[in-house]
Amino acid sequence: MPLKFHRLLLPLLLFACQLLAEIPQCFHFTWLGAYANHSNIQSESCESRVGDFNEIPCAEPLVLTPDDTVPDVKALWQNNTEDRDNYLCQMSPGRSCVKYSYIFKGGIQNITYMCANVNSTNGCYRQTHPTGMVVEACVCTSRVGLIPCNGCSKSQSAVLGSLLLLGLSMANNIA
Ligand SMILES: *[C@@H]1O[C@H](CO)[C@@H](O)[C@H](O)[C@H]1NC(C)=O
Ligand SMILES: *[C@@H]1O[C@H](CO)[C@@H](O)[C@H](O)[C@H]1NC(C)=O
Ligand SMILES: *[C@@H]1O[C@H](CO)[C@@H](O)[C@H](O)[C@H]1NC(C)=O
Ligand SMILES: *[C@@H]1O[C@H](CO)[C@@H](O)[C@H](O)[C@H]1NC(C)=O
Repeated sequence: MPLKFHRLLLPLLLFACQLLAEIPQCFHFTWLGAYANHSNIQSESCESRVGDFNEIPCAEPLVLTPDDTVPDVKALWQNNTEDRDNYLCQMSPGRSCVKYSYIFKGGIQNITYMCANVNSTNGCYRQTHPTGMVVEACVCTSRVGLIPCNGCSKSQSAVLGSLLLLGLSMANNIA
């Protein structure tokens, strides 16, 4: 009897462990947008850009792209030679994936991808500041094994004046 029990239990245990090991992921980095002198990137950090106690989200590593074009997250996800774990965080329970973009006159200034505790349903939320700067936060839930959902964000809904932006928990922004 015990033998039979084990034979049944072992595959179950292995299966459970496998499930636990596989946690959905979110992209986690800040793309700095148009950047004058690319060789200056070494001297940049979130602290130097937004400081310690700031409501502006920032997630290291800081990333520049050739021609300052919006990051190709699909290429990043599919690139086996890239150490992509550097650009990911675990979407542990209670957290969501967030993509946080600053947009001015239709041009994307920068984007921060991260895991965060967000008290909000999935979707995109926009807030326009008096300066004309638009801040868009997209919240989503990744699935195991698939490309993190905060790479592409279709602006399905634009809920104006949402307080989501204040609801982001920056303390939980560490990878
Ligand atoms: C760019 O930055 C590097 C490193 O700080 C500096 O040596 C170089 O002179 C800069 N180039 C220009 C064109 O400003
Ligand atoms: C993103 O752009 C906004 C608007 O220019 C700026 O206030 C913010 O500091 C930038 N974020 C980072 C991480 O540099
Ligand atoms: C993959 O990443 C490496 C290291 O950053 C880079 O040199 C290479 O061009 C990338 N390949 C593709 C297909 O994007
Ligand atoms: C989330 O928001 C709802 C409605 O605003 C509030 O009742 C609830 O307490 C919030 N939960 C957390 C964890 O902040």
